[in-house]
Amino acid sequence: MTSVTLSSKNPTAVKAEALVVATAQTSDGVAVVSDQLPTDLLTQLESLAPQLGLTGARDEVRKIPAGPKLAVDVLVLTGLGERAEDGTFATETLRRAAGAATRELAGLKSAAIALPASDDDEITAVTEGALLGAYVFNRYRSAGKSTDRSTDKDTAKDAKNRKDPVAAIEILTPLHKNAKAKVAAERAQVVAAAVHAARDLVNTAPNELYPATFADAAKAAAKDVRHVKVTVLDDKQLASGGYGGLTAVGQGSSRGPRLVKVAYTPAKPNGKVALVGKGITFDSGGISIKPAAGMEAMKSDMAGAAAVLSTVVAAAKLNLPLAITGYLCLAENMPGGNAQRPADVVTIYGGKTVEVLNTDAEGRVVMADGLVSAVEDGHDVVLDIATLTGAQMVALGSRTSAVMGTDAVRDEVKSAADASGELFWPMPLPEELKSNIKSKVADVANSGPRWGGMLNAGLFLQTFVGDHPWAHLDIAGPAFNDGSAHGYTPGGGTGVGVRTLLGFLEGRAAAEKAEK
Ligand code: BES
Ligand code: MN
Ligand code: ZN
Repeated sequence: MTSVTLSSKNPTAVKAEALVVATAQTSDGVAVVSDQLPTDLLTQLESLAPQLGLTGARDEVRKIPAGPKLAVDVLVLTGLGERAEDGTFATETLRRAAGAATRELAGLKSAAIALPASDDDEITAVTEGALLGAYVFNRYRSAGKSTDRSTDKDTAKDAKNRKDPVAAIEILTPLHKNAKAKVAAERAQVVAAAVHAARDLVNTAPNELYPATFADAAKAAAKDVRHVKVTVLDDKQLASGGYGGLTAVGQGSSRGPRLVKVAYTPAKPNGKVALVGKGITFDSGGISIKPAAGMEAMKSDMAGAAAVLSTVVAAAKLNLPLAITGYLCLAENMPGGNAQRPADVVTIYGGKTVEVLNTDAEGRVVMADGLVSAVEDGHDVVLDIATLTGAQMVALGSRTSAVMGTDAVRDEVKSAADASGELFWPMPLPEELKSNIKSKVADVANSGPRWGGMLNAGLFLQTFVGDHPWAHLDIAGPAFNDGSAHGYTPGGGTGVGVRTLLGFLEGRAAAEKAEK
């Protein structure tokens, strides 16, 4: 990952390949947001803005030659839009602008960032945004050597275009020596590393990432992290242990299901939280097979489990005084001679029965096993996160995730999301819709009418947690960006959920501490 240092250098004197500076929209044009750059340079930039086509709007990024007054080669102008009434910019605006800028820095060795960073929150936002934008998934691009001899021009060009993220950034802040600012920057690096790890898992091809290799990845991620223990139940143990949901969904694949528990147990925990993640390493739909168009995006159907794994590891690295267990519900949903059929009845861990009306509604079936197991283990609160329904995207689009659950926990998740800069919106679990998932033969059916599809899925999960404090995060749309990059969000896996879950845990850790 890109290295970060805090520094008090003057932007005029700082030596690096590039300098990132913010622009803003004002009533009379564009303002360069800096009180340290020489005034003549500022006036020049601001008066040239129309010719440069610069507006200072959010998400606008422009690279220009730095000129003789600066010690850098390139000036990167990144837009913040209009100032709030109090003259500041929202932290999420800073995060986005920092990320949009570092995306443009790929291939460079060094850059300095002179965005507003004069309190802990701003330092957090700028550092997180810069690192989140400095992400490239290059694993499958043959680079340099192997393609040097290639006669295929496109391949050769691709290899040349394979750029690594900027190697080192310096964040210019008057607080470079302040202890709390340093803690904020260190925390931001742990958070960004966690988001990157989740993105990497989502972007990994499903022929490489399947339940057994995901379990290996969990062990690798937890290795050398203090107080974290990983246990794996394999397909045989799941079948004999009564985990009928994972067993049924996984049985169509030659790669058996796994339930991975990632437990972080600090010395004196003052609370206990469960995080349950949907980990369908590929969702073909099974016998209720999906159409071919777009099916490739279903390698991302394990994004919930990836977020859970990354969050638990990050919480441990941050030494949060909470016991946290992640439950990764891993299976590959495939058609085949041994696959489950519509009409099958399966028994979830704990004894409730499910009539499988649609094998493509597999996520809720594996999550049921995980949720019952989590409730049984006695946590204060259970959160689950899943790319659960296409209906989530119909309701909220591809940028806003949904949160449902018991009122207080749902609201707690929403607040954590707001503070972390992730877009979540509360959704209801109306009693009146429960009839949608009634089964003619079993305790509950795994699918119902199309209308309210996200809520039907939430109500299905609710059956397995009862009235335990709980929230369900449906990240179907936001987990995978099949369009182009924006702000600090790359194409492909986004790592959504990690920041919200971590914020939730940090909030709990602080609250529990305050009570003592
Ligand atoms: N993994 C999908 C949901 C999904 C769709 C995630 C699009 C991301 C993007 C899930 O397993 C699924 O197929 N759900 C079905 C449920 C239906 C059959 C009741 C859906 O939403 O169509
Ligand atoms: Mn499905
Ligand atoms: Zn799915």
